[in-house]
Amino acid sequence: MKKDQWIMGIETSCDETAVAIIKNGREIAANVVASQIESHKRFGGVVPEIASRHHVEQITIVIEEALNQAELSFADIDAIAVTEGPGLVGALLIGVNAAKALAFAHNIPLIPVHHIAGHIYANRLVTELKFPLLSLVVSGGHTELVYMKEHGHFQVIGETRDDAAGEAYDKVARTLNLPYPGGPHIDRLAQEGSPTLDLPRAWLEEGSYDFSFSGLKSAVINTVHNAEQRGEIIAPEDLAASFQESVIEVLVKKTEKAAGEYKVNQVLLAGGVAANKGLRTTLENVFKEHTAIELVIPPLSLCTDNAAMIAAAGSIMFDKGIRADLSLNANPGLDIELYNE
Ligand code: KG4
Ligand code: ZN
Repeated sequence: MKKDQWIMGIETSCDETAVAIIKNGREIAANVVASQIESHKRFGGVVPEIASRHHVEQITIVIEEALNQAELSFADIDAIAVTEGPGLVGALLIGVNAAKALAFAHNIPLIPVHHIAGHIYANRLVTELKFPLLSLVVSGGHTELVYMKEHGHFQVIGETRDDAAGEAYDKVARTLNLPYPGGPHIDRLAQEGSPTLDLPRAWLEEGSYDFSFSGLKSAVINTVHNAEQRGEIIAPEDLAASFQESVIEVLVKKTEKAAGEYKVNQVLLAGGVAANKGLRTTLENVFKEHTAIELVIPPLSLCTDNAAMIAAAGSIMFDKGIRADLSLNANPGLDIELYNE
C-alpha cells in the first residue's frame, strides 16, 4: 500500500499567521489561522511592522497547534511548503525563516509556493481539478484570470491595471466609514440595498481580459462627496449595492467570455473576495447555463488567507520535484508564471 503523504503549509504573507497539514494533497488534517485583524482595525488597514511582530509571536504556537490537531510529529511530515511571495516582505520573512529552520532541523524537503497558486489550489480541497481550467483570482492584492493547462502551470490571461477588487472594496468601505477589512461589510450592505446609482464599468479594449477598478472607486468617492456638498443623503446600502453590481458584472462577464474562448472544463473562484455572496450567486446563475463547465467555489474559510491552500499547492509542487534550498528568500514581487517550465 502506498504511504500517505503529509505536507505542512506555512502562510505569513499578510495579516494571518497560518499553518496547516494536508494528507495526500486533498484532505485537511489541520488548519490553524491566527488572524491579526483586530490589531490592524484601528489603523484602517494592515500596518506592515505590526504584522511582522505578530507573526514572530504567533508562528511557533500555530505550528505546534497544527501538529496537535493532526496528531502528528515532524517525523511524519514529508515536506514543508511555505509562501515565498508575493506579500509584505517583513511578514513573508517570518514564514520563510520558520520553514527553513524546521526543514534544516528535521531534515525535511522545503517547497516554495506562490501565494496566488495557493488561492487557486484551495479548490483542490473541494474537488479534483480538471484541465484545462480557468481561475478567477480576486483578493486584496490581486485580480487576475489565470489559465491552467495542467498542474503547476499558470498563464495570466488578464489582470488589473490599477487597484485589485478587494482593494477597491476596502477603499469604498472606508469612504462609508465602515471598519477594515471593508469587503464583508459592503457585501452585507449590498444585500439590503438596490443598485439605484449609475456607476461606471471598465470594459477596456475589445478582447482584453484585463480589469480596472480605480475609476469605479473614484466615481463612488465623488458621488459621496458631491452628495455631501449638496446636503443630500445617499443610502449607504444603495451605494454598496450599486458598487457591488458594477464590480461583479465586469468580473463575471469577462470570466464567462474567457471560459468560452479557452474551452475550459472548470472555472475556479479564488481569493478573499471569493467570499462575496453577490459574486458567488451571480457566478452560480451564469454557469448554470454552461452545462459543460463545472464551477467550483471553495467554502468561505478556504477563500481568505490560510495555509491549507499553501500545502495543497505544495503537494503538487512536491510531486513535480520542485524544492528550495536554505538560500530561499522572501520575494514580495514574485511572478506566478516563473513556475512554468
Ligand atoms: O485573499 P485575502 O484574504 O488576502 C489577500 O491575499 O489579499 O483577501 C482579502 C480581501 C480584502 O480586501 C477583503 O475586504 C476582501 O478580501 N473580502 C471581501 C469579502 N470578504 C473578504 N470582499 C468582498 N466581499 C466579501 N464578502
Ligand atoms: Zn490572499
